[in-house]
Amino acid sequence: MTERKDDRLWGGRFEREPNVQFDAFQRSFAFDRRLLPYEIAVDRAWARALEPIGIFTATELKQTLAALDKIAERARTDAAWLEKLGAEAEDVHHFVEKALFEELGPLGWKLHTGRSRNELVATDFRLFVIDAAAQVQKALSALLNSFLLQAKANLGVPMAGMTHMQHAQPILLSHFLLAHAEAFTRDIARLQHAAASADACPMGSGALAGNSFAIDRHAIARELGFSRITANSLDAVSDRDFALDYLFALTGIATHLSRLAEDFVIFASQEFSYVILPDEFSTGSSLMPQKKNPDCWELIRGKTGRITGALLGLLTTLKGLPTSYQRDLQEDKEALFAAHDQVADMIAVATGALAATKFNARRLEAAASNPALLATEAADYLVHKGIPFRQAHGIVGKVLREAEKQNISWMALPLDALKKISQAFEADFAESLSVEAALSKKRVPGGTAPENVRAAIADLEARLNRKTSKTGAKS
Ligand code: ARG
Repeated sequence: MTERKDDRLWGGRFEREPNVQFDAFQRSFAFDRRLLPYEIAVDRAWARALEPIGIFTATELKQTLAALDKIAERARTDAAWLEKLGAEAEDVHHFVEKALFEELGPLGWKLHTGRSRNELVATDFRLFVIDAAAQVQKALSALLNSFLLQAKANLGVPMAGMTHMQHAQPILLSHFLLAHAEAFTRDIARLQHAAASADACPMGSGALAGNSFAIDRHAIARELGFSRITANSLDAVSDRDFALDYLFALTGIATHLSRLAEDFVIFASQEFSYVILPDEFSTGSSLMPQKKNPDCWELIRGKTGRITGALLGLLTTLKGLPTSYQRDLQEDKEALFAAHDQVADMIAVATGALAATKFNARRLEAAASNPALLATEAADYLVHKGIPFRQAHGIVGKVLREAEKQNISWMALPLDALKKISQAFEADFAESLSVEAALSKKRVPGGTAPENVRAAIADLEARLNRKTSKTGAKS
C-alpha cells in the first residue's frame, strides 16, 4: 500500500493511489486546458461572489483576484510551467487550484467553497461555445462576401440549371452562387441559436442540488456576460443541449460546404470545364504532369464526415445517461473542439478558393444555349395560346421526337412541320425562344430573372454591411 500524496481534489476518503493506467485514462487536462481562460473568468466571478457572503475578506478577495490574473498571464507566457503543473493536474479545474495554492498557500483552497467541478465545466464549456459560435459566424460572413463578389462579377452569365444532373432550365450563374449563400445564411441563424442555447449560467447549481451559501447567481452570470441563469440545478449539470446545438450548426455548415465542394469538383472536370481551378488551392499529380486536382474541395467534402461524426458521437454519449452529472460527460469536449477547428479551417479554405476561382463564361453560356433547356418555354408558349399545360407538354414532346427523327435541333424545325403537330404554333414561336427571354420571364420573387438576381445581390450586400457595422460597434 502506497502512502497517499494528498494533492487530489477528492483524496480524503481514499486509502490507496489510483491505478496508474486508470489515472491517465481519467485525466482531461490534455484537452480541457483549452477552457483555461474561461475557467479563470468564472473563478474571478465566483471569488467576487464569495466576498459579500463572508467567505472572503476584502483582502483575501484582492489576493485571490491578483493570483488568478497572475496565473492567467503565466499560462500565456510560461509554457514550461504550464506543462509541468499541467502534467500533475487531473483537469483544468484542478490545475487552477494547484496554481492558486502555489501562489497563495491554503488561501488558494478557499475559492472552491460551495461549488463543484460539475457546474464549472458546464459553465466554461458554455462560454467556449458562445465564443466559438461568434468566431464561426464571422468566418461565414467572409464566405458570404466571397459569394457576393463572385455573384457581382459574373452577373449576366447564364448557365444550364440542372436537376438530377440533367439539363433543366437556364439560370444565371449568380443565381446559383446566391443559392449557396442562402444556405450559409441559414447556418448563421443556427449558430445564433446555439449561442442562445449556451447563454445561461449554471454557477450556483453546485454538484447537482444548488448552493447553500446564498451566492448571488445573477451577479455571477452578469459578470460573465450571460444574459440569464439556468433554471434547475440538476438539469444544469446534466444539460449538454447547447453542445448538440453547436455541433448541429457545424454539421449544417459542413454539409453545405460539402455540397459546394461537390459542385466545384464536377464543374472543374474536363467534361464541364465551368471553372478554372486556382493554382493556390489545387495540387498536382506526382505521376501525371498535366493534372491540376481540386483537392481543396475534395478535402472539404471529405472532412465533413468528421463533423457529422462529432454530432453523432455526442448524441450517442448522451443517450440513456441518467439525469445529473455523469463522468461520461467529460467526453463532450474533444470532438466538439476538433469539429470547431475543422469547420473554421474548412470555411477559411472555401472562402479563399471561391474568391480565387475563375468561371469559364464561354463554357457556361454554351451549355445554357442547349435548346433542350427551352422545352418548358415552348410548352409555356402554347399555354399562352390557350392550350392546357398537360396537352402543351405532350405537343412539345412530339416536336422533340420529330426533331430527333430528322436528326436536327427541334428549334430548327420549320413552321409548317410544327403546324403539322399543332396548329397553335405561329410565326412568333421562334423569336419567343431564347435564353434571355426564358431568364427574364422568371420574374417571380426568388426567381432567376436578372432584375431579381440584382435585387438579391443588393439584399445580401446590405445584410453583410449591417453585420459588419454591428460587429464594428461592439469592439
Ligand atoms: N473533467 C470533468 C469533465 O470534463 C469535470 C470534473 C467533474 N468530475 C467529477 N468527478 N465530478 O466533465
